[in-house]
Amino acid sequence: MKIVLVGACGRMGKNVAEAAAERGIAIAAGVDIAVSPLPFPLYRSLKEVDEGADVLIDFSSASGLEETLAWCEERGVPAVLAATGYTEADENRIAEAAKKVALFQTGNLSLGVNLLQMLAKKAAQVLGGAFDAEIVERHHHFKKDAPSGTALMLAKSVNEGLGGEAEFVYGRSGMVGERKKSEIGIHAVRGGTIVGEHEVMFAGEDEIVTLSHSARSRKVFASGALKAAEWLRGKLAGLYNMDDLLTGIVS
Ligand SMILES: NC(=O)c1ccc[n+]([C@@H]2O[C@H](COP(=O)([O-])OP(=O)(O)OC[C@H]3O[C@@H](n4cnc5c(N)ncnc54)[C@H](O)[C@@H]3O)[C@@H](O)[C@H]2O)c1
Repeated sequence: MKIVLVGACGRMGKNVAEAAAERGIAIAAGVDIAVSPLPFPLYRSLKEVDEGADVLIDFSSASGLEETLAWCEERGVPAVLAATGYTEADENRIAEAAKKVALFQTGNLSLGVNLLQMLAKKAAQVLGGAFDAEIVERHHHFKKDAPSGTALMLAKSVNEGLGGEAEFVYGRSGMVGERKKSEIGIHAVRGGTIVGEHEVMFAGEDEIVTLSHSARSRKVFASGALKAAEWLRGKLAGLYNMDDLLTGIVS
């Protein structure tokens, strides 16, 4: 399998390159607006990439989305969209591109987090409106978007478990008044080198249920990206996510 890696000079890009080398997967080319010594050709823009690829992996940022989608649409190359911080307009553009080419998108490529998502939905169904759901995420101080894509995925799952009527409240400050039953609080903590921690708390009367996941290294996301790329290779046009990949592993 040959990969084009967008965001190749970043923390995740370097982890993907290392994991690919360990598995004998070739990185045909890297793309990044930054420059770093890499053992494969590096370009500033996808427009300069002539190398053929079976799959593109994008670990850059939401700002790189249009160039990635245009390149994949033009060449019929499937893509793993692993960056976070996409807007609603970005998501619409992804859905449009997925009519022409196979795209895999997730805010979190770890198996553990996707299991956490399923458990959070189940907990919300069981505990219902009697418990207050709050999500806390913690990441390193370099992270640019907040809350994390994963925290938003978790909030969506909790909301589905509660029936879909919840209101997301991002952090609280000042005289916000009493917490409403319909709220799901989402809180972002930033500091040091924390790779990624997510906690879903259901606080009820005299008892608290907490579900949590802690990523101890970026390897878990890099290996997830390569698994997704292998799975996506040769797939028909469409928008896929971790549920599709995990069907058969977790049911
Ligand atoms: N889906 C997941 O499981 C998962 C896991 C970890 C990180 N992420 C996301 O992946 C992204 C990268 O994370 P990171 O920690 O490696 O960040 P990073 O800042 O270390 O790396 C991003 C790299 O992309 C480059 N870049 C940014 N915009 C670009 C553009 N428009 N064109 C080309 N290159 C561009 C930057 O120069 C940088 O080298 C973030 O959005 C992060 O939230 C997702």
